[in-house]
Amino acid sequence: MKTAMRGNIRPFEVMEAFRQAALWEAEGNDVVHLSLGQPSSKPPQAVLDHVVSELQRSALGYTDACGLPALRERIAQYYQQRYGVTIPTQRVFITVGSSAAYFLSLLAAFDAGDKIAIARPCYPAYPNIMEALGITPLFIDADEQDGFQPNIAQLQAVGKVDGLLIASPSNPTGSILSPQQLQELTRYCNAHHIRMLSDEIYHHVTYEDAPFDTVARMDDKAIILNSFSKFFLLSGWRLGWAVIPEDLVRSYESLLQSFFISPSAIAQHAALKCFDHLDEMHTVVQGYARNRDMLKSTLEALGFTGLNNAQGAFYLYANITNFSHDSKQFCHDMLREANICAVPGVDFDQKRGSEYVRFSFCGDAKDIHTACEGLRKWLKQRQSLAS
Ligand SMILES: Cc1ncc(COP(=O)(O)O)c(C=O)c1O
Repeated sequence: MKTAMRGNIRPFEVMEAFRQAALWEAEGNDVVHLSLGQPSSKPPQAVLDHVVSELQRSALGYTDACGLPALRERIAQYYQQRYGVTIPTQRVFITVGSSAAYFLSLLAAFDAGDKIAIARPCYPAYPNIMEALGITPLFIDADEQDGFQPNIAQLQAVGKVDGLLIASPSNPTGSILSPQQLQELTRYCNAHHIRMLSDEIYHHVTYEDAPFDTVARMDDKAIILNSFSKFFLLSGWRLGWAVIPEDLVRSYESLLQSFFISPSAIAQHAALKCFDHLDEMHTVVQGYARNRDMLKSTLEALGFTGLNNAQGAFYLYANITNFSHDSKQFCHDMLREANICAVPGVDFDQKRGSEYVRFSFCGDAKDIHTACEGLRKWLKQRQSLAS
């Protein structure tokens, strides 16, 4: 029977690690999760109350394929208020998570056979989805001391490309491209007819007033991806958005209509209400900063290296070479022997990732504390067994 080559992509190890942890939990073990990037905090109570009243008030049918007009307008306003950038509402599209925004952006802007440059380590679904669509990811092996973010010389070195995908703050490193670096990359891409995709889903999950900016300010041909999953605390509601350049608006709309009909109506009502409660979300981010400090100082004291400051997002990407050169085995042992679930770097970087592990710190402070204690005990045991 016929099967398609398209489906022949690498598994998403983060989800695999999560599944392994669930199986281990089902055997009666108490696992501390430092794997998925999903906030453990609930959305503000006012958002939940609003959702309940919407459920009672309306039949919640399909919405416009591009999203509720009020939500699209609210997002356009958000760009004005937060970044001082004017975005026409018709360029804002609501999607099923930023995952769908990304996938449809590839469909709208690139053909099979096109090439897109991307720095690694990177969010694994990026190259996986490119490959499923016949697009070739050209990897830039970015430097640890640059937070694994790309620069123009590295971009030139990969050869001719049709697109550049950047993510700032980055998953898995939390590093941020400064507004000046973004300007330089944008200018270069414009001059060389390279379509930029800018993943901005960790915007506002930032620490110590780290400066960040939207590429929407710099390049009206760029595709901007964003999400309600991270800062807005709505991961399981599956809602994101894209700011689409004028020349792709018509095809993006047609793709949305045929692929999804519309995004979830109730999730859109929740999202709209979130904009009235941004302060509560900023308070949650302050908690992540405390988690990061606790986890980072523990990891460093234990001998993990290469930790940049994670100025944004909620991950630490730690070099494990003082313990192992096989991050998959290391994570497997950590789950089985210490009940801690983290993700092997091979998911983010097939070349160098066997020497790195990603720890997520968006959980409860209590869980981060438990994980720090567990890691201390486990590594001590490992060392005494080895000596
Ligand atoms: C960098 C990055 N982009 C995109 C996504 C997809 O997020 P969602 O589809 O929930 O918006 C994630 C999820 O963790 C991510 O880390």
